[in-house]
Amino acid sequence: MSPLVWDLAHIGNQEELWLVRDVGGRDPVRQDIDELYDAFQHPRAERPSLPLLNPTEARTYVREVRDKVFDVLDRTPLEGRELVENGFAFGMIVQHEQQHDETMLATHQLRKGNPVLHAPNPPAAPAERLPAEVFVPGGSFEMGTSLEPWALDNERPAHQVHVDSFWIDTVPVSNGHYLAFIDAGGYDDARWWSERGWAYRTEAGLTSPRFWHRDGDGWQRTRFGVVEPIPVDEPVVHVSYHEAEAYAAWAGKRLPTEPEWEKAARFDPDTGRSRRYPWGDEDPTDEHANLGQRHLRPAPVGAYPLGQSPLGVRQLVGDVWEWLDSDFRPYPGFRAFPYKEYSEVFFGGDYKMLRGGSFGTDKAAVRGTFRNWDHPIRRQIFAGFRCARDHRPD
Ligand code: AVJ
Ligand code: FE
Repeated sequence: MSPLVWDLAHIGNQEELWLVRDVGGRDPVRQDIDELYDAFQHPRAERPSLPLLNPTEARTYVREVRDKVFDVLDRTPLEGRELVENGFAFGMIVQHEQQHDETMLATHQLRKGNPVLHAPNPPAAPAERLPAEVFVPGGSFEMGTSLEPWALDNERPAHQVHVDSFWIDTVPVSNGHYLAFIDAGGYDDARWWSERGWAYRTEAGLTSPRFWHRDGDGWQRTRFGVVEPIPVDEPVVHVSYHEAEAYAAWAGKRLPTEPEWEKAARFDPDTGRSRRYPWGDEDPTDEHANLGQRHLRPAPVGAYPLGQSPLGVRQLVGDVWEWLDSDFRPYPGFRAFPYKEYSEVFFGGDYKMLRGGSFGTDKAAVRGTFRNWDHPIRRQIFAGFRCARDHRPD
């Protein structure tokens, strides 16, 4: 990971580049540091040894940039230039900050030492029996968006995608279910793993999700510096794509594809429309989803009934990012905007898709169309998964 103070000044530097200099046409606040905070100039491993601004300097820098940006916002008509149409450049920078804020939360999860972050627990799940799986009818639906004003380039344009009928888990896979996979010897049985996944599991010596430790016969976990028992009813988090894939195979299922996930999240069978969010077109509230670092853990599976999709799928947005069996590719008609380094340079790379955001994701930085991606071995991010299958045996 980057030092937290790199992310902080990088957030300010991107804000300066796009909003102060480009949109505002103003003089640089600090031109001398552009190179230090260019993610493509310095891979994460190099960042700790760069001559970075110290925390006080970084805070002063981001404050100075933000003051100028408020002035630019006051004086810029949000039309006449594609970059500012509907406030896009401002929305893009808001999302960029929030994306790094989640990355910084993952850095916190990795750091050693006493806990420094605290938050109240998320709501319990209502006492009710949910069906294990939900049927998603086959047919085409609208994937992606052309209208969402702050959608990033890789979410565009809206296009019809055919999806065969399938079943999807109503809720993300819980720690309790994942423990059954561990107890059944899932980590020691090559049958469930892809060849790459097995090689990775062997080389990395995987025996459980990251941040879990053996405790006698059972397990504990460390969460933001607190050691605690594994809550069995909470979605599993800190597993790689390969572990998710192996669990799904063991369970007689598979991971959903990206179009399947988006259809389950957005498709309304009554109207044939795709919604902005599973619950409708309104922006997320605290009742819909566990977002925004209000809670520093996922809510138990089955929570947030008001956030369910028209078909009854829960917790698609918030709680944990969900690994999907799809690679990062452009939609038909994709156009890089406003820079190739956000999406285009990553197309076709060694990435798997993640959807839905986590408890660490701000509501400004996720929606039904939002696409995230990461290396299939990544485990420090707040990612879990749910399963799907073509048919149910009976
Ligand atoms: C879209 C989350 C994969 O954090 O690596 C941040 C977003 N791009 N700065 C990342 C991003 C440039 C990106 N992800
Ligand atoms: Fe960035």
